[in-house]
Amino acid sequence: MAASIETDVAFQRCISPLCGATYGVDEVHTSCPACGNLLDIAYDWDRSRPPSSFEHFETKWMRRSDPVAFSGVWRFHELLPFAPRESIVTIGEGQTLLSVADSVGGFVGVRPGRLHLQYEGLNPSGSFKDNGMSAAFTHARMIGAKRAACASTGNTSASLAVYCAVTRLMRGIIFIGSGKISYGKLSQALDYGALTIQIAGDFDDAMARVKEVAGKLGIYLVNSVNPFRLEGQKTIMFRVLEALGWEVPDWIVVPGGNLGNSSAFGKAFMELKELGLIDRMPRLAVINAAGANTLHELYTRRGLRWGGGKADLAPACHYYDELDRLEKRADTIASAIEINRPVNLNKCLRALEACDGVVREVTEQEILDAKAQVGAGGLGCEPASAASVAGAKQLVAEGVIGKDDRVVCILTGHQLKDPNATVAYHTTDQALFNEVLGSRGVSRASYANRAVSVGNRIDEIVQAIDLYG
Ligand code: F0G
Repeated sequence: MAASIETDVAFQRCISPLCGATYGVDEVHTSCPACGNLLDIAYDWDRSRPPSSFEHFETKWMRRSDPVAFSGVWRFHELLPFAPRESIVTIGEGQTLLSVADSVGGFVGVRPGRLHLQYEGLNPSGSFKDNGMSAAFTHARMIGAKRAACASTGNTSASLAVYCAVTRLMRGIIFIGSGKISYGKLSQALDYGALTIQIAGDFDDAMARVKEVAGKLGIYLVNSVNPFRLEGQKTIMFRVLEALGWEVPDWIVVPGGNLGNSSAFGKAFMELKELGLIDRMPRLAVINAAGANTLHELYTRRGLRWGGGKADLAPACHYYDELDRLEKRADTIASAIEINRPVNLNKCLRALEACDGVVREVTEQEILDAKAQVGAGGLGCEPASAASVAGAKQLVAEGVIGKDDRVVCILTGHQLKDPNATVAYHTTDQALFNEVLGSRGVSRASYANRAVSVGNRIDEIVQAIDLYG
């Protein structure tokens, strides 16, 4: 039972097997104090003794009036047992949906019934971030933090802001690159009352500054370098399995930005396998935007691998030096993943190794076409999310994903997060199209649903409807 969870079964551990230093969950670190690598939350499963079958979690539905059982994150508390029940912070996150999407599946190239979309846009702040934020807030509450900060391309900040506004547990401070955030997301942070600091720079600059400032002022950092956040994001995979009757799909396809999700998903499956709750691993596909393709460059082109944690990861540093020398900045319409220095790179490499992963990059055109197809299929998502569908399509065309494979694409953020990109794609105004999309190499809007302009007259309106059929 969740109520019996003791925090001493959980600890923080450096992900490098060469270091493996451990720290208590009552400490706050965003990297290993001994070697600088990332930290994981690890568990003594023998002592915490999680359920031996998934069915246990289904019984939580009968206790939905209890907020902890209702939460799509915390109903899996036994699989992230770092906090006592009384510390849990939930605002009802994780009520998300896995649906079969045959029209999008047709576009991707798989047979009917094989493509599933996991719609994380249904979270309270409209993106998957709330899964992680409820876990980060829970830890922050355990250690008594009063202020929290993040750098963001817009969704982490919206999530931080809403958790601050609802729970009143902390003051929220967000760092964003100037002009680098869609209005939908910026409006959330402003509306929810977070202190919003626009930095003359991009996300990578904001990330570097927030780490410095949080360290200097002792502010709790809720970016995905915070290992507690990723514990919450593991539950996206638990819900996917739940919706599939606890069967493991063949593929999980996810957009890659700061690489928190891909890292969390890999960890989720590694733990489920260790616990004997699943008997095989799904394959993982991480999809970069071509204009922010560090992972693709390093993994697919330069062959960088985790190597059981013993590989030389120096090529990543050399690549970052190269980016600096060439003054190359991340640049994509998928602003959520406009990131060149993904903080979770090492963890993501580990996840790719565990899940026999592949990495691809997709163009702006591919992202927007995929996004239009997702919209036409009835869910809708922001550009970054559509990278998963565009990537799946590419992998089917290559024959890497089979037409009969069961594929789950993660739709990370809601359609209304970035209406500008949507309207520019569907517009009849060529000047608007050119300004927003043409300038990014998008030459056509093959799946546009164009508005029809008519006079303020019944006959013209009737004619337009007749033509529609
Ligand atoms: N999709 C959306 C909608 C996002 O907001 C993000 C990240 C990603 C995908 C990438 O996920 O970082 O786990 O690889 N957004 C962060 C933010 C960076 O600040 O909101 P990741």
